Amino acid sequence: MSPSQRSARGFLLHVELIAEKVSSFEQYPFSIPAVARMGRLELDPHVTFLVGENGSGKSTLIEAIAIRAGFNAEGGTKSFTTRSRPSESSLHEALRLARGAKRERGGFFLRAETMFNVSTEAENYRDYGWEDLHEKSHGEAFLWVMTNRFRDQSLFILDEPEAALSPTRQLALLARMRQLVTRGSQLIIATHSPLVLAYPRARIYSLDRDGIHLTRYQDTEHYAVTRAFLQDHEAMLTRLFEDADQAREDE
Ligand SMILES: Nc1ncnc2c1ncn2[C@@H]1O[C@H](COP(=O)(O)OP(=O)(O)OP(=O)(O)O)[C@@H](O)[C@H]1O
Ligand SMILES: [Mg+2]
Repeated sequence: MSPSQRSARGFLLHVELIAEKVSSFEQYPFSIPAVARMGRLELDPHVTFLVGENGSGKSTLIEAIAIRAGFNAEGGTKSFTTRSRPSESSLHEALRLARGAKRERGGFFLRAETMFNVSTEAENYRDYGWEDLHEKSHGEAFLWVMTNRFRDQSLFILDEPEAALSPTRQLALLARMRQLVTRGSQLIIATHSPLVLAYPRARIYSLDRDGIHLTRYQDTEHYAVTRAFLQDHEAMLTRLFEDADQAREDE
């Protein structure tokens, strides 16, 4: 199927915070500004990114979307049922997830912090072709899953997939994303990677204190900071270190 023939609608259409179901805006997770003000987010039928500072609420939101979509809070495929320690927020209880007419065949929820738990759970699926992921490095394990267990017409919810990957392998992830999209899959990805974020025609949502806003790749901090750094890293380092030295003198 060519990109132009891709399905116009995704499995997940939009996600919305239902204010009446919020117990308290004073408490986590509703105290996170971006969550409290998220409103309704239209999801791209192919690739949606969540970006934002550390602590802006990306993992909290992506986990709640994954749970609403039917995944285990700890990650993995929908068959994975491991629960080492309940840690999910109550956000999913206040989210409405609108689904399209077509149901995904399968999918995968990658949590940034719990590839280890997924690897342990995968041991129960060795008869179904899963390799021993604990014998692989973090990046090798994720690459194996991405190459061998990410299927067509599926839903992928990934929290910082770049955490395990070298720059070259992040490019491999981009190529794999392209394959998955052209074969009818939908992806929702939280990322800090300026490489991963470059996927063309994706919907990029930026989380900040004012809420969640659509943005363009070139307008993201990821693009601007990385570009400025690589264009003249020595000048940037000089400025950075001067500021650091000045701050120490001021102490
Ligand atoms: N279990 C919890 N209880 C209370 N507050 C929490 C809990 N988990 C996260 N938070 C707070 O919620 C905010 C959002 O956290 P979250 O993990 O969603 O951020 P993030 O955007 O994914 O950040 P990062 O880029 O560092 O992964 C943070 O300020 C964090 O301290
Ligand atoms: Mg996070």
